Amino acid sequence: MMMKSGVGATICPSVARCSPRGVVHLDESTSSLARGLLDAAPDAIVGVRANGRIALVNAQAERLFGYTREELHGEPVEILIPESGRHLHPHHRSSYLSDPQPRPMGAGMELAGRRRDGSEFPAEISLSAIESGDGLLITAAVRDVTERKRTEAKFRGLLDSAPDAIVAVLSDGRIALVNTQAERLFGYSRDELHGQSVEILVPEAGRSHHPQHRERYFHDPRPRPMGAQMQLAARRRDGSEFPAEISLSALETEDGLLVSAAIRDVTDRLEAQAERERLRAQAERKRIEAQLHQSQRLESLGQLAGGVAHDFNNLLGVIINYTAFVGEVVATAAERDGGQWEAAHRDIEQVQRAAERATQLTHQLLAFGRREVVQPRVLNLNDVVHDIEEMLRRTLGEHVELITLPAADPWPVFADAGQLEQVLVNLAVNARDAMPGGGKLTIDTSNILVHEDIAGDRPGLKAGRHVNLRISDSGSGMAPETVSRAFEPFFTTKRKGEGSGLGLATVYGIITQAGGHAEIFSDVGLGTTVSILLPAVDSVAATPEPISDGAILTGGETILVVEDERAMREVTRRLLARNGYQVITAADGHRAVELAVSHPAEIHLLLTDVVMPQVLGRTVATLVRRHRPGIRVLFMSGYAYPVLAHNGTLDPGLTLLGKPFSEQMLLAKVRDVLDNPIEH
Ligand SMILES: Nc1ncnc2c1ncn2[C@@H]1O[C@H](COP(=O)(O)OP(=O)(O)OP(=O)(O)O)[C@@H](O)[C@H]1O
Ligand SMILES: [Mg+2]
Repeated sequence: MMMKSGVGATICPSVARCSPRGVVHLDESTSSLARGLLDAAPDAIVGVRANGRIALVNAQAERLFGYTREELHGEPVEILIPESGRHLHPHHRSSYLSDPQPRPMGAGMELAGRRRDGSEFPAEISLSAIESGDGLLITAAVRDVTERKRTEAKFRGLLDSAPDAIVAVLSDGRIALVNTQAERLFGYSRDELHGQSVEILVPEAGRSHHPQHRERYFHDPRPRPMGAQMQLAARRRDGSEFPAEISLSALETEDGLLVSAAIRDVTDRLEAQAERERLRAQAERKRIEAQLHQSQRLESLGQLAGGVAHDFNNLLGVIINYTAFVGEVVATAAERDGGQWEAAHRDIEQVQRAAERATQLTHQLLAFGRREVVQPRVLNLNDVVHDIEEMLRRTLGEHVELITLPAADPWPVFADAGQLEQVLVNLAVNARDAMPGGGKLTIDTSNILVHEDIAGDRPGLKAGRHVNLRISDSGSGMAPETVSRAFEPFFTTKRKGEGSGLGLATVYGIITQAGGHAEIFSDVGLGTTVSILLPAVDSVAATPEPISDGAILTGGETILVVEDERAMREVTRRLLARNGYQVITAADGHRAVELAVSHPAEIHLLLTDVVMPQVLGRTVATLVRRHRPGIRVLFMSGYAYPVLAHNGTLDPGLTLLGKPFSEQMLLAKVRDVLDNPIEH
């Protein structure tokens, strides 16, 4: 052994700098120092002569291999090498001797040491050479890396157990680490990837930009998903690409900063997502189509019903009023002569009752057809509910509990209060019929901002502020087929005579005419909610004017009646004349204008039908006013739609008398227009 030889040597801290061949010279005076240093070294050190015999052993080597110094001295170094590698060792040794530079032994190879008891351990060995008097001494610093290998194995296990492919990259872009999933995902083996530039895993399209992204990440290595909101892709060995989700994190290691990328192939997920999206869009399309179909069906039914009802209305006007005339004559005769006049009087009353019932039905049809004459005003829905609450309670009976939940401060709406009351009554009656054993009826109001998405697939509904009126019952509910047809006129599940099937049709017509939307939410056993949305308006709800009861309805003014239907014209004339008015009549607009020009005295009021052949009522009014600027105007019509204004509502300031009218209605309206100082 070198120390024993007593040859002078120098120990140099940086072995390579001490001599051109990297050989260290020892000298005797420093041998005890050298001994101390050797024993203090953390690694096991074994010195071997050129002949392969062990000449130097430090304390750590004794401990590591389990031999004493004395036992090892002079032995061939191969006793410290596992049997499997022993036969190759002399060859390695001589190749090292030919160029004894300090270097790690067997780079890239798994090295192992063998203990005295025959057990083996993984080792890392670095070699250097020392020149001494006794010749060259090769020293091997041996480190037991069992613990590190175990940690590495654990780390690898952890890596391989990750569900995602993981690729760790050094700051220069070289791949330092991959897991099994990455091998499988990209189709490369671990060895093929190690040391490669990570860009081989990036599709060609994005490859040129990748190094920049990489550098930026190394600058600010916080864990984050890569390319947020971007569609990322990765490239397999065979050149095929796949959509990927990648998240990055950084790891501080001995080799510097390591950035690990967890890569997930999201092909399946994207496909599933696309399929879900497709199905959803398909279902949505079907739903919208069905809804559109239903509103178109209701629209055409409405046109039909409204058209028929309009003609009926005029006929009813004639029937009602002529029956009234005959009724009066018969009543007087019955008083005077009794007998058969009494019977005739009762018969006429039957006719009148039937005509009234027919008028009601006609109005329902008109409402459904959105041709009902309406007088909308700005109102508070809570007031409408409140005003009719008592009436509803009576209609519902004792076994149904009525709960009202008014909104704290509902936005005003623009609607006809009487029509809304009719809506509430119709819905309450339906609810009552659905709860024969009793139950609960809730009426609530709330402010709602309708979003464009909601409005978009509901024909007629516009986005924006609405007041939601809901009528919910705890009754039998409806099957989906019933719900889909419930708004149709004459659709009823009730027995003949119990329901006409016009209740919900009327509700539908009234609400859509008011620019709103009605929808039914119901299922068998779950009760029913009818939800109504009415557009909110800005102006403050006005308090309704009280209607005077005992007003005087007769008068002596001159009235120009314009009506194309002979019977109606005659009825109107008679009704007015017998109440004291001077009446002049015209069968059309041209004649009316002629009269306006030629009549020798003042004409106080123009009472004109709205829809007439040749000249419409509105034009008649304009032309007559040209000659008689101060004249008051009162329109009469079975329906206001669409001539007087859009949506069938009236222009503000116009006064309209709905047909058919009774004597009382006609006289009240005429007086109202004549006495009202505001220009009509
Ligand atoms: N609240 C409800 N609960 C259960 N079913 C209802 C309810 N409202 C309506 N329906 C069903 O919808 C159908 C149509 O209702 P709609 O009000 O239009 O007509 P109706 O009540 O049958 O007759 P009408 O109202 O003209 O007297 C009813 O026959 C019933 O089957
Ligand atoms: Mg009903």
